[in-house]
Amino acid sequence: MGSTHADKVCKKIMKIVTVIGARPQFIKAATVSRVLRRIPNIQETLVHTGQHYDANMSRVFFEELDIPEPGYNLEIGSLSHGAQTGRMLEAIENILLDEKPDMVIVYGDTNSTLAGTLAAVKLHIPVAHVEAGLRSFNRAMPEEINRILADHSADILFAPTQEAVKHLKHEGIAGERIHLVGDVMYDAALFYTRKASEKSLILDQLGIKSKDYILATVHRAENTDDPVRLNRIFKALSHIAKDITVILPLHPRTQAFIARDKEIEALSRQLRIIEPVGYLDMVMLEKHAQLIATDSGGVQKEAFFHRIPCVTLRDETEWVELVEHGYNCLVGADDKKIIHSVKEMMGRTFNWEIPLYGKGNACTLIAKKLQGIVSA
Ligand code: UD1
Ligand code: UDP
Repeated sequence: MGSTHADKVCKKIMKIVTVIGARPQFIKAATVSRVLRRIPNIQETLVHTGQHYDANMSRVFFEELDIPEPGYNLEIGSLSHGAQTGRMLEAIENILLDEKPDMVIVYGDTNSTLAGTLAAVKLHIPVAHVEAGLRSFNRAMPEEINRILADHSADILFAPTQEAVKHLKHEGIAGERIHLVGDVMYDAALFYTRKASEKSLILDQLGIKSKDYILATVHRAENTDDPVRLNRIFKALSHIAKDITVILPLHPRTQAFIARDKEIEALSRQLRIIEPVGYLDMVMLEKHAQLIATDSGGVQKEAFFHRIPCVTLRDETEWVELVEHGYNCLVGADDKKIIHSVKEMMGRTFNWEIPLYGKGNACTLIAKKLQGIVSA
């Protein structure tokens, strides 16, 4: 590859537009934005697409993680993939034409990521993709399409793992565009865990004790939209709940699918289902769980950060190093496998000392790279 759009940015003040819209992006952007705000010649404006909009899926993160008020909230809301992405694309383009930023930052693999990336790249505005290079190799996942397109359109790719770098290189992306920085979610876990211990009252509020429960989360389209898979997952969790409390902060997507299926609804009554919680409460729930069962990308890693064994309710994962080192067990939506692995993983001991996601300075490395572009 020749010179990238990023090479052309060489100004005294760098205007950045960051596009976010879904829960995990608020957490990732909070940690990066906190570092960017310390750099005088970087000015960042946040654009919230409104992909997530319930107070407990959006506002709570801005409040407790001190994320600045977005300059724009597009309020796109829930729509089909095409309609949601298309409306975001049009609205973000208008903002970019007005703001004329030097760079756009996007995170992860949601429809907001794709819309932000496409809007920018078509206007020849350099894009930095944080959490680049992850692959599940399951192209039925909307996230897989979003991340591949974002990676191939972006100018600067901030990869969290060596594995991610390998995928990018294998796909022919030039080495100079790729920067291995570690995982910004590790930075978030390190930064917010003490705050969570000081502020969160969730264990008392739920009347539970440390290690007396399993924490579960389920929200992936491949699980929620398939009644057979969802049934098997809830069958397994309700079976496990006979022996140990299963706490499930329920994503609204999953709630909608449970409400449509009487059998799954009956199974779900065996669990301790709660509303989605803020990040600080989530950190506490993770840290004190005996085990975590999840189909979330972020929660798989947080289990490792807090030294909790994890069972992943998916057939594949982007975070393969967790499985390779035995911290995570992939069980899909097979009820027997889930029940067996939960028992087996709870009985195991682990060496948690292996560093897999960098040094906890991913945000600083990202900020340094961006600052280097401004002062080049
Ligand atoms: C999205 C991302 C997924 C990410 C997840 C994080 C895409 C394609 N998917 O999935 O990669 O893991 O966010 O949580 O971008 N809903 C509400 N209130 C809200 C938000 C959503 O009720 O504030 C309900 C609606 O019924 C909506 C459904 O959840 O249709 C799904 O929301 P959507 O943002 O489309 O996808 P997620 O499943 O949240
Ligand atoms: N999370 C949260 N409250 C919840 C569930 C999850 O704060 O009720 C946090 C979790 O700690 C992690 C992030 O949200 O940091 C993961 O988001 P999610 O599972 O929605 O998406 P994914 O990571 O799978 O894209």
